[in-house]
Amino acid sequence: MNNAYERFVRPLLFSIDAEAAHHFTIRGLRAASHLDFALGALKIFQPPEKPKRLFGLNFPNPIGLAAGLDKNGVALPAWAALGFGFIEIGTITAKAQPGNPKPRIFRYPEQNALINRLGFNNEGAETIARRLGKLRRSGRWPEVPIGINIGKSMTTPVADATEDYLSSFRILREFADYIVLNVSSPNTPGLRELQGPDALSELLSAIAAKNLITRKPIVVKIAPDVTPAELEQILSTCESNKVAGIIATNTTIDHSPISAEQDQEGGLSGAPLREKSTTLVRQIVARSAIPVIASGGIMDAASARERIGAGAQLLQVYTGLIYHGPGLLRKMAEALP
Ligand SMILES: Cc1cc2nc3c(=O)[nH]c(=O)nc-3n(C[C@H](O)[C@H](O)[C@H](O)COP(=O)(O)O)c2cc1C
Repeated sequence: MNNAYERFVRPLLFSIDAEAAHHFTIRGLRAASHLDFALGALKIFQPPEKPKRLFGLNFPNPIGLAAGLDKNGVALPAWAALGFGFIEIGTITAKAQPGNPKPRIFRYPEQNALINRLGFNNEGAETIARRLGKLRRSGRWPEVPIGINIGKSMTTPVADATEDYLSSFRILREFADYIVLNVSSPNTPGLRELQGPDALSELLSAIAAKNLITRKPIVVKIAPDVTPAELEQILSTCESNKVAGIIATNTTIDHSPISAEQDQEGGLSGAPLREKSTTLVRQIVARSAIPVIASGGIMDAASARERIGAGAQLLQVYTGLIYHGPGLLRKMAEALP
């Protein structure tokens, strides 16, 4: 199945602009999400069960859809039918926003990589909450855990970020099995400053105060570019605020694997991120008991096994799917313990 994707589907998708190919695929999966026969057809990709329990949730397998592929949460039934063990939607911001000017996604096939500077284009928390409510009432809500990834609206000053996250949190939490605070995208100016101890503490304690009854697991997504000293501060801030998990990592601003002529502004993902992300997972696991969800350069069975070997509890894929298609899920799951 993977071969068929790489031989027939990928050349077609790669013959058009990267964002156009993305919209084409999402439109197909969105349509499939309403049709039982289409969902049935997608199930041929389903990997074997490799059950995992984390945050009090049951995952049929540890391989999840990373944030950014379904920012508006339009195709949850299709992702579940393909066999993802969990699905993370977003990043969602309090206000709807268009993101950065196009083009803003770039492919690097020789490096098995992408650079994007989308800038959190999304329909905003209210609209997406209405969509999720409708899906729930339709009876098509997936059985796998759903993560909701939230970020700061572009027009909100960094100093007011907490209120912006709180607003999205209040609107979306009822639909989330876990909530991700994205403080690591390189494409919203100032966002990564929220990884600093004071800003992160303020954000985490404000969210915790509004989470006393709902008690959703709160997960923090961090950048691969943090120094060991910054990582130490992030971990102690997360520990003292009882964070449930850490997603390591987002895309990197280190573009050294890309030649200067080909380079673009944005976050680099895919194979060149593998080593950096694995190293960070090892550092976190060595230092803290907080469970790690690994993301970054998980492109094949070997990199999936490597990340679990480094101590990650769960995995997420994005760029690997673009290059290898949904057959990747089975290849990875079969290789895991
Ligand atoms: C086009 C694109 C859009 C993304 N959008 C988001 C996003 O909205 N929120 C987020 O937390 N991560 C986003 N990411 C980062 C991915 O979730 C993932 O952490 C990163 O790409 C590393 O994994 P990968 O090497 O498997 O792609 C995006 C990545 C790409 C390539």
